[in-house]
Parts: sequence; C-alpha cells; structure tokens
Amino acid sequence: METVSSVEDLRAQVSQWRQAGERIALVPTMGNLHDGHLQLVREARLLAPHVVASIFVNPLQFGPNEDLDNYPRTLEADQQKLAAEGVELLFTPDVPAMYPRGAERSTVIEVPEVSEGLCSDFRPGHFTGVATVVGRLFNLVQPDVAVFGEKDYQQLAVIRRMVDDLGWPIEIRGVATVREDDGLAMSSRNQYLDDQERRIAPLLHQTLEQLVSDIRTQKTDYRVLEKQAKETLSQAGFTPEYVEIRHAESLQPVASGELNCVVLAAARLGAARLIDNICVE
Ligand code: PAJ
Repeated sequence: METVSSVEDLRAQVSQWRQAGERIALVPTMGNLHDGHLQLVREARLLAPHVVASIFVNPLQFGPNEDLDNYPRTLEADQQKLAAEGVELLFTPDVPAMYPRGAERSTVIEVPEVSEGLCSDFRPGHFTGVATVVGRLFNLVQPDVAVFGEKDYQQLAVIRRMVDDLGWPIEIRGVATVREDDGLAMSSRNQYLDDQERRIAPLLHQTLEQLVSDIRTQKTDYRVLEKQAKETLSQAGFTPEYVEIRHAESLQPVASGELNCVVLAAARLGAARLIDNICVE
C-alpha cells in the first residue's frame, strides 16, 4: 500500500487508473480504525479493483467545544490494518492540502433538509463540514463508488442527497453497523468511556431495540415511545440528546403507526457522545 499526502501525488495515481478505465472505490475515514471501518474496506474491495482510503481529521466538522484536539490519531497502526485489508492507496492530507485557503475561508457545501435536526441540533454546522470535506475528496479521487457506514445514518443521508442534488456520477454504498458482542456500535469515541460507563453503554442499542419491538407490536404513539426511551437512558446514567423515529429516507418526522422508518438516538455518557440507529422494515 502506498501512502500519499499531497493532492498532486493522489491525482497522479488515480488518473492512471482512470485512463486505463479501471474502477475506483473510496473509503473516507478520520483514522483510529476499528473493525467497523475495515468492514467498509472489505465492501469496497468487492466493488472495485482499486480501493483508496483516506484519513483526515476534518476540523470543519468539529464544533468549538468538541474533541478535535484529542481525537485519537494512530496512523501507523491504521496503515498496517488498511494494508492487510488490501487497500492500494492511502491519502493522508494535512489541513492546508484539504483547505488551501484555510478551513474558515473554504467554499462549503450545505445540504438542506436531511442535514436539519437530529445531530445538527447539538452539533451546528457539523454536516456542512462533512459534506464539504467529502465533496472535496470526491473531486480529488473521482471514485466510481464510495462506501460509508450506516452507524452515522444522518451523515449517510446527507451524502446521498449531496451526490443526487449535484449530479455526481458516484454510487454511494451503505454498510450495516458493526457492533461489539454486547451490541455497542463500534466507534473511535468508545475509548473515552471508563469501565463503568462501558458496562452501561450497550443500553443505548438495547433501548433502540425495545423501541423497534414496540413499533412492530403496534404500540403506536411514537411521541410517547420516544419520551419513554429517553427516560430509560436518563435513568441508566446517560444524558440523552435525542431519540427520534423518522422516515428512513427523508429523515422527516413520521406519524404514529407509519413503518419504513428508522429510530435514531444520540446520548452523552461520561466524556463520550454515542450515536446509534436501527431501521424498522
Ligand atoms: P469516521 O468516524 O472515521 O468514520 C468513517 C466511516 O466509518 C464512516 O462512513 C462511518 O459511518 C463508518 N463507521 C464508523 N463506525 C462504524 C461501525 N461501527 N460500523 C460501520 N461503519 C462504521 O464518519 C467520518 O469518519 C467522517 O465524518 C468522514 C465521513 C470521514 C468525513 O470526515
């Protein structure tokens, strides 16, 4: 696996593949890789002969009081994992390579509707930062397909909408959330949990599973179900941000009884902010 940090080196490599008419898959990440990320790489390998991964801790998607400075950076271990999974090219730009005029002076991409509410209410500007960096990565790599995790469900919806609205010829592939044995969604932020918090953390997923089973058994007042789930989380020691039942594609609120929805939650636990979701088919 080759690692490149400059836009020129990246372009030189991918343009060779493009000229040969060979497909390229992209897996964007912020590093500190776990099995969830590697599952995206495995999916990408099935989709294209050339897999490009990126590692960039994107300042534009972090709020002023968030964990940008403390975000775990483990480049060497990440390189080994990606090479072992068959990634051919790793792009590790620094901030000037991604934002030549500085992050605050960059042209940004704002995606309406799906960006609003849910995580946005607690992380204002977050999805503008995500869409902007992913848009730039797409233009640099020009992949045929890009792979994202369903764990970040709203993010995936934002990227799908951006690609659709802007008419980019890129297939967006979602991969099911990879979980620990006790159901906790894998996340780089799980390492902020102490032992006691780690024991409580799987309750987030369990609470969503309960909610899904209540939806399926027609306990249909969705607003009551959302409120009960938040109470369950509070009692267990979480500080819930939201628990919402939304339309699976538009992410708009749904009326009680409607199926084709997704239950989404975000909650703080100690120093960690955990998110999770389950689709109801
Ligand atoms: P990061 O949190 O590093 O995640 C990179 C990709 O891995 C995202 O598509 C995310 O949804 C996926 N992922 C994370 N945990 C997962 C899990 N347990 N199961 C399945 N997939 C999982 O998300 C970002 O970085 C950034 O916002 C990024 C898209 C790279 C833009 O900066």
